[in-house]
Amino acid sequence: MNINFTYLPGDGIGPEIGLAALVVLNTTANVFGHTLDIEEHLIGGAAIDALGTPLPIETLASAKHTGAVLLGAVGGPRWDHLKGAERPELGGLLPLRQKLDLFANIRPAKPFTTLINSSPLKPEVLKDVDFVVVRELTGGIYFGAKGRDNSQENKQSAYDECRYSEAEIERIAVRAFELARTRRKQVTSVDKSNVLETSRLWREVVTRIGGNYPDVKLEHTLVDAMAMHMLTRPRDFDVILTENMFGDILTDEASVLCGSMGVIPSASLGTGNMGMYEPIHGSAPDIVGTGKANPTAMILSAAWMLRTSFDLCAEALAIENAVEQALEAGQVTGDLGGSLSTDQMGKWVADHVGR
Ligand code: NAD
Ligand code: IPM
Ligand code: MN
Repeated sequence: MNINFTYLPGDGIGPEIGLAALVVLNTTANVFGHTLDIEEHLIGGAAIDALGTPLPIETLASAKHTGAVLLGAVGGPRWDHLKGAERPELGGLLPLRQKLDLFANIRPAKPFTTLINSSPLKPEVLKDVDFVVVRELTGGIYFGAKGRDNSQENKQSAYDECRYSEAEIERIAVRAFELARTRRKQVTSVDKSNVLETSRLWREVVTRIGGNYPDVKLEHTLVDAMAMHMLTRPRDFDVILTENMFGDILTDEASVLCGSMGVIPSASLGTGNMGMYEPIHGSAPDIVGTGKANPTAMILSAAWMLRTSFDLCAEALAIENAVEQALEAGQVTGDLGGSLSTDQMGKWVADHVGR
């Protein structure tokens, strides 16, 4: 088939890990007899520099008409002085997610056995860990009214409104319960209902939706306690359902269980097959240009794209197997104890697709 997707390398290490993923996709297409039709566009800081806006109309148009988006990362110190919607994150990535209505962000945490020793946590804590975070992606404090109040001289204040509607909570809760049904039938909903009104509504709605899934066990946990449980007893969790900002924070924490920020992919989904696939990590300005960036999360995101947006399951599995072979053979980047560069690891994985 013709695999038509939008490729947004973005900033920092985005283009480096993106190239590695494209090499892998190319080989995969050759092995399985497909063609790639890649529409590459600018987003974030790169788009600001070239076109003066973090989300050019052609980027959005491409994302809307192709079957999927593969994104590296956006942002970096070069654009940190910018304010509000001029920023790569606030004016690029967030509106892209919102305009595509990709409200469900799925982030798995299943440490590869071969990487158990790459984590600072004890191997016995990591044994049998396999959970998925279902993060609400288009609501909450990220998208509420925000600004500065300069009305009082020398007494500036700033605000970020956090708002959730019942409908927004319902649709993400349904996603989590449906996913749990395909797994170990357990949902842990994470909120801060001892303080936040949005969390109180969250808990009410999730409990109500849970009533439609009597076969799925539902528990509620406060986010501060969850941050601790995730490191002390991570194997107890199956599907973790949470709002936008808590999900952002908890998934970086979850990467510690998996050995590196560079190994967790993610899928951002709406109601159809269209999706955006991206690593959970950022543009890693501290290692850009050094060849140290681990391309695993990006390669696994590409595999996920093939499976979910193009229904190419054997192809996705072939990529995942090749990644696993690389991890087993120690053909990895420095963050995982190896000595390969980003490009070398990408090529190694590509050479092992279908083998
Ligand atoms: P980061 O995720 O970029 O980096 C955190 C740490 O993890 C750094 O030490 C980095 O070197 C390391 N790291 C990240 N990815 C790695 C990889 N693939 N291989 C090896 N090491 C890796 O987070 P940050 O430094 O807080 O943010 C940098 C910029 O990225 C900011 O502008 C932020 O807004 C942006 N960001 C973008 C996205 C996205 O586009 N989805 C996600 C997170 C952060
Ligand atoms: C992520 C990132 C983004 C987020 C930023 C860059 C807006 O941290 O995808 O995890 O907070 O959603
Ligand atoms: Mn994040």
